[in-house]
Amino acid sequence: MFTNKKRVEYHIELLSTFTATPNQGVTRLTYSAEDLKAREYIKEKMIEYGLSVREDGLGNIFGKMEGIKNDKPSILIGSHFDSVPNGGAYDGTLGVVAGLEIAAIFHENNIKPIYPIEIIALVEEEGSRFGGALMGSRGMTGLIEEEDYQHIKDENSISVIEAMEKIGLDFTKNKYRDPSTIKAFLELHIEQGPILEEKEITIGIVDAIVGLTQLEVTVEGRAGHAGTTPMNLRDDALVVASEIISILPEIAIEQGEETVITTGRLQVYPNGANVIPEKVIFTIDLRSSNEEDIQQAHNKVKKLIESKNKKQIRTSIKQHLYMPPKALNEAINKTFKKNCDKLDISYHSMNSGAGHDAMVFSDVTDVGMIFVPSKDGLSHCPEEWSDAEHISQGIEVLFETVKELAEV
Ligand code: HGY
Ligand code: MN
Ligand code: MN
Repeated sequence: MFTNKKRVEYHIELLSTFTATPNQGVTRLTYSAEDLKAREYIKEKMIEYGLSVREDGLGNIFGKMEGIKNDKPSILIGSHFDSVPNGGAYDGTLGVVAGLEIAAIFHENNIKPIYPIEIIALVEEEGSRFGGALMGSRGMTGLIEEEDYQHIKDENSISVIEAMEKIGLDFTKNKYRDPSTIKAFLELHIEQGPILEEKEITIGIVDAIVGLTQLEVTVEGRAGHAGTTPMNLRDDALVVASEIISILPEIAIEQGEETVITTGRLQVYPNGANVIPEKVIFTIDLRSSNEEDIQQAHNKVKKLIESKNKKQIRTSIKQHLYMPPKALNEAINKTFKKNCDKLDISYHSMNSGAGHDAMVFSDVTDVGMIFVPSKDGLSHCPEEWSDAEHISQGIEVLFETVKELAEV
């Protein structure tokens, strides 16, 4: 066992303190003061483990370990370090810490890879601040146009560019990563579901990641006095939004058990207790492992929303993101399985119901992803927790696989 379990636990514990909501989980929004503290810590550790550190034009962090043949493409290992509001300590962070630990093991044991290895910490995977998820990896793979960033704003209308400048990041630096410089991307992540724990299995080997569509719906009606406006004269945006939201679960269930739909965020304007709501903005997160189901469910949702247009009620839909379901690399998965057997660690092949940066990179390089169990299947909440022993075993499987890919 090469992994230093205590050190891994320490990194996770310390990074979880970089939160805007102490005692209420981890809230680390991209380019926030909490992002900056986590960023500084990650870079400090990368330097300590002998990596050369850089940040790209979105603030993605790269720690590079030179390879004996340094002109060869790199093996990228990492995940995201932003969080959902009041999230957990492991989602994303675990993958970054696993990368740091592998760099530390190479450094301490003076192991020299043929292929270079890069530990990466990605920004805005959750989309909690700017709406569209997977922004850091989509920026690296050219899925976002340069001129689009000025229009990507948070709920206080601060753009990506302004938010980056505020913490001293240089937006003008290059964002795009030439795929020929990447040999593979590997991500260790928590399962965020109950399967591994139920099966009492340590490692999940991810075959495929669900596709997802993220929409933002606006319903506009007319403000009015809650006391003096007769019921038949109202154009209440919140009543109409509620009619839409209450039908969404039926659409998902009708589509089949692989399809899920969630409204996680809703804003009411002007949000006064004695004011008829003039405008409501809410999100729709629609996922399935089957692309057909996503399209069909999406069409039903669109029809439902459009059917609410009448008199003074106007509805509109903005699509923040669409990613089709993605299969991950079979050869890497075979290596994961071989290394689990070699290390006598139990594993289970499975799909991911959560989206991940791995699905973005799978368009441009070979991608492998493994899970460790989540206690009670919980995630995206302060209760999120994974066992240090499982985490160490996950890092060992990753380490063996990295050694093979890097031809150590
Ligand atoms: O939403 C997700 O599936 C991931 O946690 N970003
Ligand atoms: Mn997440
Ligand atoms: Mn995640």
